[in-house]
Amino acid sequence: MKLSPGEVTVRRGHADDITRIAVIEQLSFDDPWPLIALRTELDTDDRRRPLVIVRNGEIEGYLMAWIVVDEYHIVNIAVSPSGRRGGLGTQLLEAGLDEARASGCVLATLEVRVSNAAAIAFYQRWGMLEVGRRPRYYADNGEDALILSCRI
Ligand SMILES: CC(C)(COP(=O)(O)OP(=O)(O)OC[C@H]1O[C@@H](n2cnc3c(N)ncnc32)[C@H](O)[C@@H]1OP(=O)(O)O)[C@@H](O)C(=O)NCCC(=O)NCCS
Repeated sequence: MKLSPGEVTVRRGHADDITRIAVIEQLSFDDPWPLIALRTELDTDDRRRPLVIVRNGEIEGYLMAWIVVDEYHIVNIAVSPSGRRGGLGTQLLEAGLDEARASGCVLATLEVRVSNAAAIAFYQRWGMLEVGRRPRYYADNGEDALILSCRI
């Protein structure tokens, strides 16, 4: 079911956004990042480019990514469970890839759990392909990570 669109904007994430981001992180992952890790990604610098998506005044999702020379490396993305399948993740990723291209990136990469079928389906819509695997990448359960990548 598509959600009613409301007013949606994507903007740079700031330290002040951490409380809502931490709630979405907790709701989205079995092994959520600790606050200190989220806070570090919100320290914007030349490399870190956090984005949040805001609908009707409330943060509904975020994307954290690094720009490493010509590569856009997505380190975290999540949409609040009640906001999913409404196109918010797509809008976040579009905004991130636009910024990456404007910064001279030619490649996007990320790691995803082999069991995360929803995220893999989401990324495949963008033409992301499996280019490798990191065995036992996730410390909580020893799960492998797929490395996905696409030209942008
Ligand atoms: C991955 C995630 C960010 C996608 O956000 P979203 O707002 O639901 O994504 P969209 O609504 O833009 O989905 C776009 C397309 O991706 C695919 N997709 C998204 N979720 C899917 C799911 N659960 N199952 C199958 N396909 C899915 C579909 O093709 C979808 O298009 P459709 O709704 O027209 O069928 C969201 O599921 C999420 O927060 N998951 C938990 C956190 C997570 O796993 N992050 C990734 C870590 S690597």
